[in-house]
Amino acid sequence: MSLFDPSLLAAAEAAIAQRIAEAGGLDDLRAIEDEVNGRESVFLATRAEIGMLDKDLRPQVGRAVNDALRRLDDLLSQRRDELASPGEEQGLSAERMDLGELMAVSRRGHLHLVTQAQMELEDVFLGMGFSVAEGPEVETDWYNFEALNMPPDHPARGMFDTFYLQTPQPGTLMLRTHTSPVQVRLMESERPPISAVMPGVVHRRDTADARHTPTFHQIEGLLVDRGVTFGDLAGTIEAFTSAYFGPSARSRLRPSYFPFTEPSAEFEITCTICAGAGCRTCSGTGWIELGGCGLVDPAVFDAVGIDPEEWTGFAFGFGIDRCAQMRHSIADMRALMENDLRFLEQF
Ligand code: PHE
Repeated sequence: MSLFDPSLLAAAEAAIAQRIAEAGGLDDLRAIEDEVNGRESVFLATRAEIGMLDKDLRPQVGRAVNDALRRLDDLLSQRRDELASPGEEQGLSAERMDLGELMAVSRRGHLHLVTQAQMELEDVFLGMGFSVAEGPEVETDWYNFEALNMPPDHPARGMFDTFYLQTPQPGTLMLRTHTSPVQVRLMESERPPISAVMPGVVHRRDTADARHTPTFHQIEGLLVDRGVTFGDLAGTIEAFTSAYFGPSARSRLRPSYFPFTEPSAEFEITCTICAGAGCRTCSGTGWIELGGCGLVDPAVFDAVGIDPEEWTGFAFGFGIDRCAQMRHSIADMRALMENDLRFLEQF
């Protein structure tokens, strides 16, 4: 058979196109493909006989056969794709998972206790009108020390067992040892009045014990305004203590020293492990230090270009991990870092 008659050619193409559309599987498709392109192909046979035609007819028939072959090839590969990858509907239902079953075998996670504590502390201070700010974990000497009234060789630098980064200029970059550098950043970028808390991770070359881990978290507080007194600081801390630890918590401020506050104090609460009787966690004192505080030293205002004659302020820095430890009476702080699910799941 040959298809020199154009209407025969068209009819043969239409019949095959129909079978391609109806092909139920890749096997059907392979058989049809053989018919179109294989040794028995009427299209190829026709093309082979073109030489016997009138010269004038040859190009016309040749083009007609080629066009038919191209269209059928397109249909074949289209249908092959459809059969190989199931339609979207089918695919979706094949991939559907029964999540109910999954939930039954896996337990849901939750935020780490320290993250929960940070969020609750932020909430307490947001409620008092403070905003929340953050700063970088790697700091320069200026922010971590110098602007905080600790020039090079100041003995108070020794209070902060610092991890330095190895850089071409040793001693210039460090993991921040406290969140106080964020105070400096804030005062450099904003004009007073300022009121913000600044939570974040800090690092010190400390040996871990029941109350310390080398990596821990602080929440810094800063309030700058006209006529701020130590009474404002004490009142704020008292409001915070009863909001976070409950109205029956007992706390105290003890005179202390920080280069960036004057006067300075340490903020302590009654140890919740022993209710003040003295235990291993509080080293027998009955009190746990939660952090330091004081009135912003005029030298710090000078460093950031705020006029200390006009502006006053208070600052504090509390350990978030310590707060969580005391709130939940956790005897050893190292448990917060060990990632033992039997411990973490209790909170
Ligand atoms: N940055 C001090 C520390 O980490 C705490 C502190 C903050 C003290 C703000 C006073 C004012 O020990």
